[in-house]
Amino acid sequence: MLKELQESILSLKKERNAVILAHSYQSPEIQEIADFTGDSFALSVKAKDIDADTVLLCGVRFMADTVKILNPDKTVLLPNPAASCPMAHQIDPQRVKDYKTAHPDCCIVAYVNTSTRLKAQCDVCVTSSSAPKIVSRIPNEHILFIPDCNLGSWVQKLLPDKHLTLWDGHCPVHNQVTAEDCARMKALYPDAKLAVHPECPPEVVEQADLVGSTAEILQYASSREDDIIVGTEKTIADWLGLQFPTRRFPVLSKKLICHDMRMTTLSDVYHALEGSGGEEIVMEESLRLAAKRPIDAMIELNT
Ligand code: 13P
Ligand code: SF4
Repeated sequence: MLKELQESILSLKKERNAVILAHSYQSPEIQEIADFTGDSFALSVKAKDIDADTVLLCGVRFMADTVKILNPDKTVLLPNPAASCPMAHQIDPQRVKDYKTAHPDCCIVAYVNTSTRLKAQCDVCVTSSSAPKIVSRIPNEHILFIPDCNLGSWVQKLLPDKHLTLWDGHCPVHNQVTAEDCARMKALYPDAKLAVHPECPPEVVEQADLVGSTAEILQYASSREDDIIVGTEKTIADWLGLQFPTRRFPVLSKKLICHDMRMTTLSDVYHALEGSGGEEIVMEESLRLAAKRPIDAMIELNT
């Protein structure tokens, strides 16, 4: 049944000259039919270089919006319209506009997990894998980092010469992990390494052997032979367990489940390609151009 559905998707994909991009948090059955899988930076770079009529993005809305921002002439589909990162809506764009008016010399750095309207008010986007390098290259003395204060604190710690003003946003999933979770899991798995996403709170990040994006955690785990305590969405641990069945990949906390990232199913993908479901991303041109500036700056500053 699963294989049949995957085969139907692959033939629809061919008929429509479509490509499927999937975030690393997507289920293994979606990753199997994707043309490209990666973290949010890799997906943004890939989105700049697509030779197809239709792009179907399996992930959350801001990722599909980024593809549309970079590919205005292509049909961009989000298979499950309800899939949205809650952090993307934690700031009213007007507040950032007012901040910029009050601090005209400030560089506003936005985590890519933000709405298109919010990006349009910002100067540079970053992702978890690109933030330290990009922020290190920003010459402004005053940098406002929005919205994730955990990611911002990690970048600040890596770059003590920079002065970041942080917002009070956070990922509701990663922000639940505690120092007690680290102590409990390290006691249960004393020989395992701890790899965490920088969206986790500072007291967790400071105990980790690796702090990195979803793709960097996968890469770190793949390059080693020991057990890894996984401090990010459980799908990453499940995926590693499938790839390396003789090793253990316990999740740092059972709260590490992102319901939005789990919403998209193979059936959603099928219906979106068939034209009986999903949502086509549409965007006003002036908004698209305003949001494209910080995304282009991100890609340029990370090269
Ligand atoms: P990555 O940039 O690591 O893919 O992160 C996206 C995300 O939403 C993590 O929660
Ligand atoms: Fe957003 Fe957090 Fe889910 Fe990532 S894990 S998509 S940051 S809510």
